[in-house]
Amino acid sequence: MFPFYTLDTIAEATRLSPPARLSVFGDPVSHSLSPQMHDPALAACGIEARYVRLEVASTDFLKALRTIRDLGFIGTNVTIPHKFTALDSVDEVDPAARRLGAVNTILFRPDGSALGRNSDGPGFVRTVQEEFGAEVKDLRILLLGAGGGAGGAVAVQSALEGCHSLTLTNRTEAKAAAVAASLRDLLPGDRCRTIPWTPEALAAALPDIDLIINGTSLGMSPEDPALLPEGTVTSRHFVYDMVYKPLVTPLVATARAAGAKAINGLPMLLWQGVQSFEWWFQRPAPVEAMRAGLEEAVSRRI
Ligand SMILES: NC(=O)c1ccc[n+]([C@@H]2O[C@H](COP(=O)([O-])OP(=O)(O)OC[C@H]3O[C@@H](n4cnc5c(N)ncnc54)[C@H](OP(=O)(O)O)[C@@H]3O)[C@@H](O)[C@H]2O)c1
Repeated sequence: MFPFYTLDTIAEATRLSPPARLSVFGDPVSHSLSPQMHDPALAACGIEARYVRLEVASTDFLKALRTIRDLGFIGTNVTIPHKFTALDSVDEVDPAARRLGAVNTILFRPDGSALGRNSDGPGFVRTVQEEFGAEVKDLRILLLGAGGGAGGAVAVQSALEGCHSLTLTNRTEAKAAAVAASLRDLLPGDRCRTIPWTPEALAAALPDIDLIINGTSLGMSPEDPALLPEGTVTSRHFVYDMVYKPLVTPLVATARAAGAKAINGLPMLLWQGVQSFEWWFQRPAPVEAMRAGLEEAVSRRI
């Protein structure tokens, strides 16, 4: 068994039992946890298929897509650095993925054409529903790190859902301002605003926020500074840290100590995977099998 396949070896994976029928394209790709989430789901549903990692160089994206289509794949996930290439390489892009500016899930239709979708946005919505019992549309959201890839996707999806309000901040302010400008049509007036990345501005904003999201990479290292001023997170906040290494980040620990409901980034990884599975198979995904597979894979790595 390979930790990942290449274009030279992928045909071998289709001769395994069960055969490879789904993949994740990436470069590098060996770190991807998606097989550990999708293989238990396929087994739980009795689907004779396997999910594999496929290392694809940027210049080979189209070749890779045609290769797996011709080998009988159902579809593929797409991760760094291909999410933007994928947008221009598929035959059709669904409108939400177009607005998110990236494709992370591809489905082959019976005629061989490729449809590009993005499960990160819907995965965020389902994370909020399942983990907080709330709807994005009802929430006043503060997003730290609005200028990054992950933060940008959450900002767009929050606006697509018509969230009550969206407050964006980012170390590099111009990036948050650009995201806010791109969302004006969806959140007119002062429903979308930016604030400076300062303790004063954050402390002033937090009393009027329901959901706090960390979309930065801060929290991965023990030396990282605290994200929020002391005492500003309270028990009525929902806190969602997109970081999942460590599993209990400083932000999650602080929020839980204040009595707030707080989660790390694993649920979003899970729910975007659930969404992709449901698009490929048009049936409810076995969520608990996927959650168990993902948690086991992460605990081995941490
Ligand atoms: N849970 C999930 O499913 C999921 C999915 C994707 C990513 N993630 C996580 O989300 C985080 C961001 O990933 P990404 O792909 O969006 O990365 P990215 O595109 O490189 O963005 C990084 C973000 O972090 C900010 N940042 C970095 N260092 C900072 C510092 N010292 N102080 C303040 N802000 C800082 C950046 O601000 P500037 O714009 O100023 O540089 C930017 O907003 C990572 O921890 C990643 O593991 C989770």
